[in-house]
Parts: sequence; structure tokens; C-alpha cells
Amino acid sequence: MLVAPSVLSADFGNLERDVKAICDAGCDLVHVDVMDGHFVPNLTIGPVVVSAIAKAATKPLDIHLMVENNTFFVELFAPLNPEYISFHIEEEKHPHRLIQKIRSYGIKPAIVLNPHTPPEAIEFLLGDLDMVLVMSVNPGFGGQSFIPVYEKLERLKALRDRINPGCLIEVDGGVSDANIEALQAAGVDVCVAGSYVFKHESYQAAIASLKV
Ligand code: DX5
Ligand code: ZN
Repeated sequence: MLVAPSVLSADFGNLERDVKAICDAGCDLVHVDVMDGHFVPNLTIGPVVVSAIAKAATKPLDIHLMVENNTFFVELFAPLNPEYISFHIEEEKHPHRLIQKIRSYGIKPAIVLNPHTPPEAIEFLLGDLDMVLVMSVNPGFGGQSFIPVYEKLERLKALRDRINPGCLIEVDGGVSDANIEALQAAGVDVCVAGSYVFKHESYQAAIASLKV
């Protein structure tokens, strides 16, 4: 299991310290939640703050867009060279075109599915993706309760294994040591964890407990 702590739950007054600390504590990716106040009822960070995160991070960035105008935000963040940029399928009329655009920057494209969106919605895009992110909360806030998306993960895994075995499955929302084994059994390769990691007394112990 790869572990991607969500910086949304970090102490923004000590952002550099917290980003360095999760990287030193053994995380695999640094998950960055970009919200525009339109697609989701919350507003987070733009390129000024994300570039400060990129500077502090010694692990690759995993940028999760929760925005209305995906193309604009992809162009804004591409110069920071994240490993992944993910966008929501619910908010994109031309996902195939956007995948090619993300890849043209040398960035790995990923698509996010809200809790209600079936995996079959991306069946004909899976062959072009490096990762699919399944939301296990409604996007917008850290610290929400986990929605059991196990059946959906299993269906996605079956599609993934048939169409593009190299594509990773990531889960985001309410992840902790209480559900990580069940998530792994359902096919998850990468977990995002915000409040669980940042509220833990030891980032290292928290991250290690998710590496099942
Ligand atoms: C929610 C974000 C998540 C969030 C996860 O919209 O996409 O990345 O920060 O936080 P926890 O792990 O606290 O649910
Ligand atoms: Zn996220």
C-alpha cells in the first residue's frame, strides 16, 4: 500500500515543517487538495501555496482537483511538475482530451469518482489512465466519516485488471488503520489519509500502520 497524506489537515502556519515531516516519516506521495468554492463548498489553495509545498516536499505531489474549470487549473499547476494530477469525471465534458493534455506535460493523469459515480463511467478511459481515485467521502472537507465503497472498488478492480493492469487504484476520505486492511482486500493500491495522519502523535507510526 502506498500512502499519500493529505496536506489539507496539516498546520498551515507551519506548512514547510509539516510537509517535510510527512516526507521524513515515510510517505510515498504528498496529496494536495485544490478546491475552488464552486465544484465543492470549500476553497483551499492555489499555485502560490502549492509551489511552497512542492519546494518543501521530498516526495512527489499528487494534486487532486475539485474545481469547475479543470483545464485552467491543469495549466496552472503543470509547471510545478507533480507526479499525478487527478480531476473529477463529474465535472469534465472532454475527459479524453484533458488526459492527453496532462500527459503532454509529462504528468500522470488520474480521474476521480465521487461516491455515487459507477466505475463503468470511465470504462473507455481506463486504458489511458495511470490512476483512478475513488472518493470514500463527499469531496470538500477533511475529517468526514468513511462511506463503505467496497463493492465499487471490487468492480473497478475487475475492470482495471481486464483493461489496464498497470493503473493504480487510490481511495480518499475517512481512511485509517480501522479500514485499511479491508480497502487493501478490495483492491486499493494507494491510500490518502488526512486527519488520521496529522492527528496521530507520530506521523511515522500512522504512515507505517497504513502500509498493509
Ligand atoms: C476531501 C479531500 C481529502 C481529505 C481527506 O475532499 O479530497 O483528501 O483531505 O481527509 P480525511 O483523511 O481526514 O478524510
Ligand atoms: Zn483529496
